[in-house]
Amino acid sequence: MSRRGDSALLKIEKLEVVYHNVSTAVQGVSLEVMENEIVALLGTNGAGKTTTLRAISGFLGIDDAKITDGFIEFKGHRINGKPPSVTTKRGIVLVPEHDKVFDNMTVEENLELVIASSNMDPKHKNEMTDVIYTYFPVLIKLRKRLAGYLSGGERQMLTLSAALLCRPGLLLVDELSLGLAPIVVRDLMNVIKGIRDNQGVAILLVEQNAVAALEVADYGYVIESGRIVYSGDSEKLKSHDDIQEFYLGSGDSESRKSYRNVKQYRRTRRWYG
Ligand SMILES: Nc1ncnc2c1ncn2[C@@H]1O[C@H](COP(=O)(O)OP(=O)(O)O)[C@@H](O)[C@H]1O
Ligand SMILES: [Mg+2]
Repeated sequence: MSRRGDSALLKIEKLEVVYHNVSTAVQGVSLEVMENEIVALLGTNGAGKTTTLRAISGFLGIDDAKITDGFIEFKGHRINGKPPSVTTKRGIVLVPEHDKVFDNMTVEENLELVIASSNMDPKHKNEMTDVIYTYFPVLIKLRKRLAGYLSGGERQMLTLSAALLCRPGLLLVDELSLGLAPIVVRDLMNVIKGIRDNQGVAILLVEQNAVAALEVADYGYVIESGRIVYSGDSEKLKSHDDIQEFYLGSGDSESRKSYRNVKQYRRTRRWYG
């Protein structure tokens, strides 16, 4: 099952997550993120991507979700059911889909708030602020702007900046590309790669946009209805026929069939034809 022995930074084994004690959203997911690796978790709406990130980061309670089976290990320690305060201290930082920044505060104030709540020493504060403005020079110009007036791409930059200030060992990024123009997405993905290359951070990148994610990821998993249906090196995933057709194709979600249905379809065709 294990890709590269027991050296995984994050190791999830047969994870099951249930909402409201009745609805199983994640059913037996196993995945690994190695040190310094970018891993893509790909899937359409409702596949179980956000739920998986909630389980890792500990943000389960507010949604009345529970881990009912399996385990999660970070740096060899079990973190199942640990609250966000604990997972964050250990270096796991979640960049959520929504509610990431305070609209009525400026860019600078948003960043200062993170610094203030992280009891970081002043030396690191300046260091990290410099690092952030190197990745996102446009934020220097926008320092005094209210976050509520930022464009979608700028908002994501601020969100990533806030996450970086927490000095993550593992960054969990939920749908960075959602609603953004392709060129903005490409720039953000390049920064993701830069962050991995320079900050020694491993990144679990949750995306519906498989094209963008596989451009920077080393390894990928495809999740459907709470189950991993395919995994492999990015190159292998990119060249896989079914994934080509249904995740890297037209991107037209209306006409996009289920990955499992496709496999079924292919199998049937092979059988009869
Ligand atoms: N707060 C919640 N309460 C109940 N069910 C939920 C909740 N959040 C998500 N779900 C359900 O869990 C499944 C997986 O959702 P989610 O993890 O958000 O998928 P994704 O992030 O891949 O779009 C879906 O069927 C969704 O309806
Ligand atoms: Mg989601």
